[in-house]
Formats: sequence, C-alpha cells, structure tokens
Amino acid sequence: MRLTRRYRFAASHRLHTPALSEEENRRLYGKCANPFGHGHDYILDVTVEGPVNADGRLVDRAALDGLVRRHALARVEYRNLNQDLPEFAHVVPTTENLASLVRDLLLDGWDLPARLAHLRISETDRNAFDLEVGRN
Ligand code: NI
Repeated sequence: MRLTRRYRFAASHRLHTPALSEEENRRLYGKCANPFGHGHDYILDVTVEGPVNADGRLVDRAALDGLVRRHALARVEYRNLNQDLPEFAHVVPTTENLASLVRDLLLDGWDLPARLAHLRISETDRNAFDLEVGRN
C-alpha cells in the first residue's frame, strides 16, 4: 500500500550557470535567469510504501512528518537555494535538481520501516516533477 503526505515550503532561486554568458543564460532559462531571483511556494508530496502493520497503519505519520521536516524542509524552507545550499554552489537549482536533492536528504535520514517510493515537487500550478525512488 502507498500513502502520500503533502508538505509546503517557500524558497527562492535563480536559474543561471556561470559557465554561460548573461545572454546565453537568458536564452536558456528566460525570466528565471533574472539576477534578483524569484520565489516559489513549492508543494512536496512524499509517497511511502509498505505493508499495513498490526495497528492498521502503513507508517507513523508523526515520525514521517518529523523526518521530512528535519532532513528536507529545514534545509530548503525560506532559503535562497543558490546562495544558502552548498549543494547548489555549482549545480543550477532547477526543480529537477531540487527533487534529486530532496530525495538524497530524505534517504540520508531514512529510518522508517516503510520505504520511500516516490516524490513529487510542484513548482507552480503548471509544473510538477515526479521522481520514482528505487529500492531503499
Ligand atoms: Ni523559478
């Protein structure tokens, strides 16, 4: 069985790579290359998978919430992703790369019997990125 819990966090970013000129960055990333950056209200959906245990539940939701908060949300919430996260010092903080980072952060701290199965990060109401997590 699978359970999906939804979390929200606000963060800002700028899509820009120093390997390219300002003009090339603008061509590649459009408005998202604006030097002042911009914010998003991201929605993070975390899906866990496993058997239903003796108390009739798939996962201790408070334990899951605590883990997501400590290991992922605390790192990204209200941050300037480019400047505040060493992981994005040399990696462009697109939502594709943000999803991979959140997966790594969650797997690093994962101590629940249920398996982390899937992540979805919605950046706007038009863009959602899905990441299937392999066996863990
Ligand atoms: Ni953006």
